[in-house]
Amino acid sequence: MNVLVTGGAGYIGSHVVLALLDAGHSVVVIDDLSTGCSDNLPSDIPFFHVDIRDEQALRACFEKHSIDAIIHLAAKKAVGESMKHPELYFSVNVEGTRVLAQEARRAGVKTFVFSSSAAVYGNPSESPVTEHTPLAPESVYGVTKKMGEELLLWFGFTLVNLRYFNVVGYDPSGRITVPEKQPQNLFPILCETGVGVRERVQIFGTDYDTRDGTCERDYVHVTDLATAHVRALSLDESITLNLGIGRALSVRECVYAAQEVFGEFAVEDAPRRPGDPAAYYANPSRAQNVLGWEAQITDPVEMITTMKPLYE
Ligand code: UD1
Repeated sequence: MNVLVTGGAGYIGSHVVLALLDAGHSVVVIDDLSTGCSDNLPSDIPFFHVDIRDEQALRACFEKHSIDAIIHLAAKKAVGESMKHPELYFSVNVEGTRVLAQEARRAGVKTFVFSSSAAVYGNPSESPVTEHTPLAPESVYGVTKKMGEELLLWFGFTLVNLRYFNVVGYDPSGRITVPEKQPQNLFPILCETGVGVRERVQIFGTDYDTRDGTCERDYVHVTDLATAHVRALSLDESITLNLGIGRALSVRECVYAAQEVFGEFAVEDAPRRPGDPAAYYANPSRAQNVLGWEAQITDPVEMITTMKPLYE
C-alpha cells in the first residue's frame, strides 16, 4: 500500500514509518517539524514539510501521490499545555483533522488509522479499561482526541481508532537517533536523570491506594505500537482498539527498572500531581483478537534499555 503518515517525523510517527517500510509498504510523510525531527526519517521517502491545517499544501500532496490509506498522528499532545492553550489544541487536533479529512475525501482515500489516546477515558471508571469503558476526558487534549475520533467517523472513512496507553521506548535496533525534545513523561525523565541531565526524579504522590502507594500505568513499547498500526491497515471495518500491555507498573517499579539500567540516581518523594488518576491499565484483548497483536516487550528494564543509547 502507499500510506500517508501525518506526524511521520515525530516520536511515534518515525517508528510507524520504519514498521511500514519493514512490512514492504510505500510511505509518504507530512510533518510540520514543530516537535518532530527529519533526521529520524529515511532520506529516500517523499517528505512534505507541511502543517495539516494548510488546505492547499495538502491538496498538492494528494495530487502528487496516490494514497491508499492515512495513518494520522500529527497532533499536539501535552496535557498540561492543552489546558493553558486550548485554542492551539482545538486548532491543530480538531481543525487540522477536519482539513485533512476534507482533502483525503476529495482525493478518494477511504481508510484512516487514527492516533487516539487513553486520555479519552479521563479517570477511567474501571480497570482494566475496555473499549466500552465510558468516555469522560478530563483535559482539552483528551476532548480533542475524542472529537478527532468522531469527526473521522462522520466523514465516512473506515476508521481504525487506536487508543494508546503510555507509550515508551525507542527502536531496539537503533535506527532512531534523535530523542524527543523537552520530554514531559516519566520514562524520558528517568533516562535524563540516569545520564545526569537532571539532578533527580520526583515521584508525584506516594500515598495512593495502590500496591506501593505510587501511581500505576500501562506502559507499551513504541515498536509494538508501530506494529499494530501496520496490521490495522488490513482491516476493512471501523473499529476502536486499546493498545496497552494489559498490566500496570507503579512509578516506583519504573524508577527501580531505570536504576538497573543506568545505576543509582537521586529520587525524591513529591506531592501528588493534580489530575493524576491513581491507577489504570488496558484490556488489550480486542486488539489481540482482531489484529493478532500482542506486545513483545513487556519488561520495563528492556523498555528502558532501548532508550538508553539516545540519551548517552
Ligand atoms: C500522560 C497524559 C496522558 C497521555 C500520556 C502519554 C496526563 C495527565 N496524562 O499520561 O493523557 O496519554 O501521558 O503521552 O498528563 N510521574 C512522576 N514523576 C515525573 C513524571 C511522571 O512521578 O517526573 C508519574 C506521574 O504522576 C504518573 C506516571 O509517572 O503517575 C506517568 O506519568 P506520565 O509519563 O506523565 O504519563 P501520564 O500522566 O500517565
